[in-house]
Amino acid sequence: MNISALLVERFTKALQKMGVENAPVPVARSARPEFGEYQFNGAMALAKQLKQPPRNIAQSILDNVELGDIAQKVDIAGPGFINIHLSDAWLNDQCKQVLVDKRLGIQAETEQTVVVDYSSPNLAKEMHVGHLRSTIIGDAVVKTLEFLGHKVIRQNHMGDWGTQFGMLLAHFSDQLQQNAIAETALSDLEDFYRQAKVRFDEEEGFADRAREYVVKLQQGDTHCLALWQQFIDVSIAHSEEVYELLNVSLTREHVMGESAYNHDLANVIADLKAKGIAVEDQGAQVVFIPELADKEGNPAVYIVQKSGGGYLYATTDLAAIRHRSGTLGADRTLIFTDARQALHFKQTEIVARKAGYIGQEQTYEHCPFGMMLGADGKPFKTRTGGTVKLADLLEEAVERAGKLIAARDNALSSEEQHSVAKTVGIGAVKYADLSKHRTTDYVFNWDSMLAFEGNTAPYLQYAFTRVESLFRKAGIDSSEQSAKISIEHTNEHQLAVQLLQFDETLQIVSRDATPHVLCTYLYELASAYMSFYEACPILKDGIDDSIKASRLSLSALVAKTMAQGLSLLGIETLDRM
Ligand code: ARG
Repeated sequence: MNISALLVERFTKALQKMGVENAPVPVARSARPEFGEYQFNGAMALAKQLKQPPRNIAQSILDNVELGDIAQKVDIAGPGFINIHLSDAWLNDQCKQVLVDKRLGIQAETEQTVVVDYSSPNLAKEMHVGHLRSTIIGDAVVKTLEFLGHKVIRQNHMGDWGTQFGMLLAHFSDQLQQNAIAETALSDLEDFYRQAKVRFDEEEGFADRAREYVVKLQQGDTHCLALWQQFIDVSIAHSEEVYELLNVSLTREHVMGESAYNHDLANVIADLKAKGIAVEDQGAQVVFIPELADKEGNPAVYIVQKSGGGYLYATTDLAAIRHRSGTLGADRTLIFTDARQALHFKQTEIVARKAGYIGQEQTYEHCPFGMMLGADGKPFKTRTGGTVKLADLLEEAVERAGKLIAARDNALSSEEQHSVAKTVGIGAVKYADLSKHRTTDYVFNWDSMLAFEGNTAPYLQYAFTRVESLFRKAGIDSSEQSAKISIEHTNEHQLAVQLLQFDETLQIVSRDATPHVLCTYLYELASAYMSFYEACPILKDGIDDSIKASRLSLSALVAKTMAQGLSLLGIETLDRM
């Protein structure tokens, strides 16, 4: 049930009746309750075209629009805004239908194949906080798209290829020769990388061996590939542990690393040359991009093959586009990386379109995100200035949440406390990130993300337990609550409207790849529920049975909507905490 879409439909019809075709139909949420819940504000723009004062146009629209079933009041305000006050009876009906529907009344969108490239860590290093954002924002969008009926193909474009692997493999091979087991040798990837780098810089002969490894690897030498495979396997296993802890839906089958395109890079270059798109420049193969020229009019230079013949990140991304749009048939491709890569993806798209690797109707959407900052406003680091490993960060989150839970008045066993701490701690880290607009930098702050007040995971998780405890007290299972709704009180009205805005919220998340919109929605839903709970007693003595049933029904719908919304964000709910 999408209120906004329904209103657009009704206003479109009204404009058609008036003989107005192809005009924009701007329906927005009203800013203040006295303006109702929605506002149509297209009359002003029509004034010129129809040569009439906007208020007159608003009046004709009102005469033509059919809102009798939806609205209890429609009025014209200011220069010609049309304010819509939704009717209680209509809200009753809608809420009832939504409550008994497994999909909570959410309509599927027209199915598209959507390739989502997210997480995509570089395997030579341990996952660090920079990968947190890509991983969890990407996963929330993936889950939402799937819920809306799309076919989602996850692509974990891991950095598993390239010259640095020569150095890593040379060091790895030495360690294995000293009878180490692969897992132990790679137990700390950061450390392993550092050791290899030190040897590369200082140890005689090591750099040469590293280079030999690169050459052999690229030539497909079997021994080298087997060694590389072992390295990759252990390294992916590290990522998988983090995914599991984070409740993220990526598994090994979604890994489509850079190496997977290795066989196709020469073809891409040959094709770009044949089409006259890539040309030789100082021994390298490059594409000039006049669309992105600098101030002096010099076109941007996009290198696709180095002068020595080596391929680049860009070459792999061109092969990836061709695979995704062609073989996988992606209608949309979404890529989640930090904002610093924006230019790379813009250039890649231009080149790929010229080469015909992506069709006109197919989209290529780089979804950038800002940085995670420390309290000093600089990129988030450990106390000693190192990169923060994701695994360490999550461990600290669980530990901190554990202390908070233990300090609260609760009747949980120590085992339960531990599991609650995990759900709350991980949820808090994820939610703090998801709830910010992804394009802005944000300051990482333990105290605010773990607070039980405000727009945080603990607040939402706690609000959910409040609803569940209401049902426990009433001796009813919330999922079995029948749909007997009769909206009378203002708080009931507001809550019902908020509940029915779930659908349009999810559509925004799907369109813009912005999970923070869902976070804001859930926070507002929890707040509306808290106000309703204060104003509208439910289990108090003397409450009429039908009112009690209605309020319980609304509460049940709140519980379902919150659980569904949080699960799309990859955040778990609790029965008690
Ligand atoms: N591995 C890259 C990094 O860590 C991200 C890859 C993103 N995806 C892509 N198709 N380039 O920065």
